[in-house]
Amino acid sequence: MTVKNILETMDYGPAPESAAEALAWLDSKSRQFGHYIDGKFTAPTQDFTSKNPATGEVLARLSQARQDDIDTAVIAARKAQKSWAKSGHTRAKYLYALARALQKHARLFAVLETLDNGKPIRESRDIDVPLAQRHFYHHAGYAQLMDAELPDREPLGVCGQIIPWNFPLLMLAWKIAPALAMGNTVVLKPAEYTSLTALLFAEICEQVGLPKGVVNIVTGDGAVGEMITASGVDKLAFTGSTEVGRIIRKATAGSGKALSLELGGKSPYIVFDDADIDSAVEGLVDAIWFNQGQVCCAGSRLLVQEGVADTFYRKLKSRMDGLRIGDPLDKCIDVGAIVDPIQRATIADMVASNTEGETYQTTAPDGCFYPPTLITGLTTSSNLMQEEIFGPVLVSTTFRTPAEAVAMANDTRYGLAATVWTENVNLALDIAPQLVAGIVWVNSTNLMDAAAGFGGVRESGFGREGGWEGLSSYTRAKNAPKPAKPVAAFEGKGGLSDPIDRTAKLYIGGKQARPDGGYSRIVYGPKGDALGEVSLANRKDLRNAVEAAHKANGWSKTTGHLRAQILYYMAENLSARASEFADRIKSMTGKQGRDEVEDALQTLFTYAAWADKYDGQVHGVPIRGVALAMKEPVGVIAALCDQRPLAGLLEVIAPAMAMGNRVVASVSEVFPLAATDFIQILETSDVPAGVVNLLTGDHKDVAQHMGAHMDIDAVWSFSDPRHAAAIEAASASNLKRTLIAPVPGAAKTMLDAATEVKNIWVPYGE
Ligand code: NAI
Repeated sequence: MTVKNILETMDYGPAPESAAEALAWLDSKSRQFGHYIDGKFTAPTQDFTSKNPATGEVLARLSQARQDDIDTAVIAARKAQKSWAKSGHTRAKYLYALARALQKHARLFAVLETLDNGKPIRESRDIDVPLAQRHFYHHAGYAQLMDAELPDREPLGVCGQIIPWNFPLLMLAWKIAPALAMGNTVVLKPAEYTSLTALLFAEICEQVGLPKGVVNIVTGDGAVGEMITASGVDKLAFTGSTEVGRIIRKATAGSGKALSLELGGKSPYIVFDDADIDSAVEGLVDAIWFNQGQVCCAGSRLLVQEGVADTFYRKLKSRMDGLRIGDPLDKCIDVGAIVDPIQRATIADMVASNTEGETYQTTAPDGCFYPPTLITGLTTSSNLMQEEIFGPVLVSTTFRTPAEAVAMANDTRYGLAATVWTENVNLALDIAPQLVAGIVWVNSTNLMDAAAGFGGVRESGFGREGGWEGLSSYTRAKNAPKPAKPVAAFEGKGGLSDPIDRTAKLYIGGKQARPDGGYSRIVYGPKGDALGEVSLANRKDLRNAVEAAHKANGWSKTTGHLRAQILYYMAENLSARASEFADRIKSMTGKQGRDEVEDALQTLFTYAAWADKYDGQVHGVPIRGVALAMKEPVGVIAALCDQRPLAGLLEVIAPAMAMGNRVVASVSEVFPLAATDFIQILETSDVPAGVVNLLTGDHKDVAQHMGAHMDIDAVWSFSDPRHAAAIEAASASNLKRTLIAPVPGAAKTMLDAATEVKNIWVPYGE
């Protein structure tokens, strides 16, 4: 080919990266690996292979961990944890050393990743490996700062970590760096398709002299994941499919293990008619063709404003035609191989089964490659608009107005990320807060950084990775408040002396409501005297209360100042009736009630104070711009209160209300009458109808239904620990957040539980 030819066709010649060094490393291990446990590699058992998806060549033989490997790894991690947790400065030095070692071996990591996963070398070299290094550097800083900045937090202990195959090294970094920084030790399982960079990382741990047992790496398939889930770890961190996330949620229910889940997505990519169309088209290349679309936060659902749709699709197709697909080791390649023929077949089947809209596809080489695909003219309910394809397939429809764009964007069971393109900053900043997602990119896409939290809401999971907000997933509060000894309800005989029925009603949607079942129970005092009667709420009452809470969504849009005023007003009205409430508490518990009323007033003042002060952050991410970490309400929170008649109620409703949530609280089971008296305080303190809904009765009658209800966003249980398993197992329905503890925690813990962090990335300038 002559220079003239080249200039005429503008074709790229191949520019392959050499695999020699990576293959030599594999050869030096005889192409077989055991597990990395307690600072050394176990003897390989050659149970399965890892292949290069671009060629089908076997790269190495790997070992499937057995129960005793998991047991040994967890014991090693447990043994190492105490001394690892001692010094933040020492941890910082090791994390820094790991970052440096990753940097030194960057090329080897990048090539090995590309060989094993099929992603273009340009990506592994410029994105995966640098971001993994950055994660270790950044978290070395958190290790150093932990004592000073997080004095009330402590490590969880041993963390089990299960990661997917789409970003093998990067996901490892996202898991290991924060866990280690906060003084935990880990047992990590890479995905069975892509274990090689994790094994190379294990060697790096050895090289930097990381104390043995701090990092343990075991390989194998989902069965190994199950063993880790069932093992004695204190926390599980999982990234992968929503389906497996649900299995893990159920498997850990009631175990007391902490859990964070980073699951699937079907993230909207919204293009308004005033957007810089060429940039938005270019953004899509990074949104959906980056890593062959095997990205949980991929902008896989394109929503284009009607007026520019034709132009946009034309330009997009022309850009698709220019994408180069093929040998991932070629530095000119845009789209590499799909991770495994099984995944390729899944993608092809999903596309083939679609009968709607119009499909535009470019071509791909034979083998484990899939062509970039655009399917236009779908409706929001089309299967491919709802289901995660996890491949280079973009689905699309159009919208007319910003309100319609928001409605379509949120019409999904997921809530991981969203992208908004518009030149109008007012529009962008109006839309971003309305999108139900953990991350919103304005005029940019797929930006990630160690300083900004990553993670979703709804069925995309819970917990954040990265940033200050990510650290709470790897720590717990020190000195958690101690619960009072549980007491049983007092027993008595006989009914109430007053012939007029004054059974305390439920409080739903701002009205006192009779229970659906019509049943009630007499509350007896310590001497067996009948004090009053309360309604017994059932599942239907819970449903009504949730519906009322949903209708009160205006509360979530109010200002912190207004919410503070209402909490203060509640305190004012409670204070005016303090002695009456103290007497009521005494009549039920037999103990003086003044202190508890005082506690309740303190609680109201505390959360009124926080209502307009629990600020978000502006993260200094390495772009010309910022990531705004905004605190948002969780939504509708259902709660089982502890036994304290008044303090137990207020420690639930005050933080939830302060942060803009609506609450359905099942009040103290044993001493419910102060809470039912409190209805009058709610009615006279300008609390909008539906913001607080109160149920009385047996917690066991509503616990599991709270967990299962699809329109509840979080469940807090401070009641009998035996309800935890039912709530957590049922919560797998919509993967809602749960907070299970003997009593509500310190203010920061509660504020954290009452908020989600949404990171809105706003680039500056051109
Ligand atoms: P997966 O969720 O099955 O695998 C992820 C990890 O979980 C792997 O390490 C796997 O060995 C492990 N695992 C599997 N079953 C387990 C179990 N019962 N208990 C504990 N660990 C278990 O994902 P898979 O099958 O590899 O991919 C299937 C689909 O999942 C993809 O097509 C994609 O839609 C989605 N996916 C989403 C990811 C994300 O980042 N959101 C990442 C990978 C897959």
